[in-house]
Amino acid sequence: MKHKIIVTGGCGYIGSHTVIALIENNYDVVIIDDLSNSSDQILNRISKITSKRPTFEKVDLKDIQATNQVFEKHKNADAVIHFAAHKAVGESVQQPIKYYQNNLYTLINTLAAMAKHHINKFIFSSSATVYGIPQTLPITENNQTQRPFSPYGNTKKIAEEIIEDVVRSNTKMLAISLRYFNPIGAHESGWIGELPSGTPNNLMPFITQTAAGLREKLMVFGNDYPTKDGTPIRDYIHVVDLAEAHALALKRLLDRKVENSFEVFNIGTGEGYSVLEIIKAFESISGVVLKYEITERRAGDVPQLYADINLAKEKLGWTAKRGLKEMISSSWKWEENLRKNKNQLY
Ligand code: WQD
Repeated sequence: MKHKIIVTGGCGYIGSHTVIALIENNYDVVIIDDLSNSSDQILNRISKITSKRPTFEKVDLKDIQATNQVFEKHKNADAVIHFAAHKAVGESVQQPIKYYQNNLYTLINTLAAMAKHHINKFIFSSSATVYGIPQTLPITENNQTQRPFSPYGNTKKIAEEIIEDVVRSNTKMLAISLRYFNPIGAHESGWIGELPSGTPNNLMPFITQTAAGLREKLMVFGNDYPTKDGTPIRDYIHVVDLAEAHALALKRLLDRKVENSFEVFNIGTGEGYSVLEIIKAFESISGVVLKYEITERRAGDVPQLYADINLAKEKLGWTAKRGLKEMISSSWKWEENLRKNKNQLY
């Protein structure tokens, strides 16, 4: 009997890659997505890649009634993986209420619907941003979480605290929070990838759009940080490695291998690269010379963030398999595909 998994936000960047990993691991998948930051075209892409089309429910999880109806319909689900959230750091600073409403209402309504329909295994899409400015490096799961700079990051920190309280109140519930470092890259097929709406906030899509001639140049936000070349260091992780981490976390929950009812894992490579290193790597992999300019620091950026990933290795049996070359070449292939088949892809 196949396990049935509900994936909220499953039409998004990380969600869609995770849906593919779940299908490849023989799960039945139900995607719940409001398509506010994605397209249902992704369903065609997923079925093109896996030759299976996940069940799709277009629901805004801020709507309590609609949420309960869809969970009633799929009450035989074995677990929920929750991606549904807004994720633009800069936008969250401008519109905190939009972010607290969306990211917390969707979480709370999902948890309430799970409790009502006795679905009690939950995986949460969290972020290394909950560590704030790290006290020590590499960052372990025991690092103190601090109030993140952005409302986006704070919704992730508050969400984890809500989940912990709900798990504590319900002895049957088990939850895992995965704290992503910097997801980049795309599925090797080039059929799915990151689709930022408007001007990209993140480094990699801005690089590929600049190289594709869609942006005039890349602004490098500061080169006066206390790092090897003055630019900030991040732990970039291939989105397919990240997707596979979700499948392993799900197995841990379904097999009841957890040691605590609420567990947290860092998902990164443990390797840090500076912005200038990423630029140089992109140029040598793509053969495109990137136009960039060093500008002022961006508010809220920290000098270095990279993970200690021993806990995920030991408990999930997971490590990243894909290196920087594959992260960058798959990002570039996706961008080139977007330009070539724009009318077909989305
Ligand atoms: C990486 C580095 C920038 C753009 C955020 C969120 C995190 C997750 C990933 C959602 C930084 C520099 C960037 C540009 C630049 N988001 N940069 N020019 O800020 O590490 O993490 O995105 O899940 O939760 O906090 O990622 O890609 O924005 O920036 O110089 O145009 O690239 O200063 O040093 P970040 P990023």
